[in-house]
Amino acid sequence: MAKECRRRTAMRVFAAGGVILAWMAVGAGTALVSSSCRDKEMRRHVKLNDFDALALKPPMGWNSWNRFGCAVDEQLVRSMAEAMVRSGMAAAGYEYVVIDDCWQTARDAEGNIVADPERFPSGIKALADYVHSLGLKFGLYSCAGDKTCEGRPGSRGFEEPDARRYAAWGVDYLKYDWCHTEGLQAEPAYRKMRAALEAAGRPVVFSICEWGRSKPWLWARGVGHLWRTTGDIKDNWESVVKILDLQVGLEDYAGPGGWNDPDMLEVGNGGMTADEYRAHFSLWCLLAAPLMAGNDLRTMSRETTFILTNSDVIAVNQDALGVQGRRIRKEGGLEVWAKPLADGALAVALFNRGQVKERISVSWPELGVETSTCFVRDLWRKRDVGRFLSGFAADVPSHAVVLVKVKPSNIID
Ligand code: GLA
Repeated sequence: MAKECRRRTAMRVFAAGGVILAWMAVGAGTALVSSSCRDKEMRRHVKLNDFDALALKPPMGWNSWNRFGCAVDEQLVRSMAEAMVRSGMAAAGYEYVVIDDCWQTARDAEGNIVADPERFPSGIKALADYVHSLGLKFGLYSCAGDKTCEGRPGSRGFEEPDARRYAAWGVDYLKYDWCHTEGLQAEPAYRKMRAALEAAGRPVVFSICEWGRSKPWLWARGVGHLWRTTGDIKDNWESVVKILDLQVGLEDYAGPGGWNDPDMLEVGNGGMTADEYRAHFSLWCLLAAPLMAGNDLRTMSRETTFILTNSDVIAVNQDALGVQGRRIRKEGGLEVWAKPLADGALAVALFNRGQVKERISVSWPELGVETSTCFVRDLWRKRDVGRFLSGFAADVPSHAVVLVKVKPSNIID
């Protein structure tokens, strides 16, 4: 086995006779997958339990926080679920409709969590039923602390009754935050809620949101399905690139069943240009990040819909190999990022952070590609560009990404 084959980490998952199996090539290193290596890799069978199998690909959905903050109510959520179907988002793969903070107001005399009766007069169960009736899944938010970040009742000390209530309501996804957690340690606190969810008996995607404070990538696989790696995203370019830089080095921790979460999408919220939103979305896809839209799906511009529903770009994110892409070159503000794909191709982002248009090139050897000719497809344009002998170059506007799929010619479909 070639040395570089042993140095990379990747995981593949497939179903065999109803049992989910995964193979993993173990080791540390930065080498990308080369197609000839892939077949020679050490195979170690790992049985994934049903919990891990809930997120074999990065979860996709919508969350209320980035656009609406505390201004949530049942009409908003119903109309957003309808818009998710009407706009083509559901067809593109978005599935979870998640209410973030502020749906809850108090606990009753028995300690049961109470949804805001003015904003959710029909109750959470009826809302979940409606979302399910549209073929979508339903999610809620709570917090490991005494209170949520907006001061609503948290789940500390109420993990089991809360988990049972979520199960009874039909909750499929729980985002679990980290405010007001004085005296708590993250790993046991999240394990406690995970155990409560399991005991409640309903499959729930568990989204760990402690902002990367305790390096959750080191412990959260098998506890949650996604874990935030940073503080909150904001709807501006500086926030996107700051979060992007913090993902470097975390690549080996992501894979089927558990994903690094660089926070939800800001695409369509108005604070960035179309090129910046395309770059944000391209890079989140390349990072195998969960894709939780954070905009108003009812009033999306054509450009926003185009970005959020591009099937070629989403396919990079949802690729079955489940490998997080990595930065393979940085020269000033010009960068090349690459993500190996299950069919032996690579998704490659040529990324220009600078203020003016620049030409960015990539050579096949630096992608770890051993053959001399590759087919290149432009994923935003959904157009094959041609065969290239030793590499590819493109003019990339300021704050933009050119995203291509590079397929070595010796790979047979
Ligand atoms: C924290 C989280 C955000 C959001 C808010 C809600 O800041 O990181 O994503 O859930 O709380 O209060």
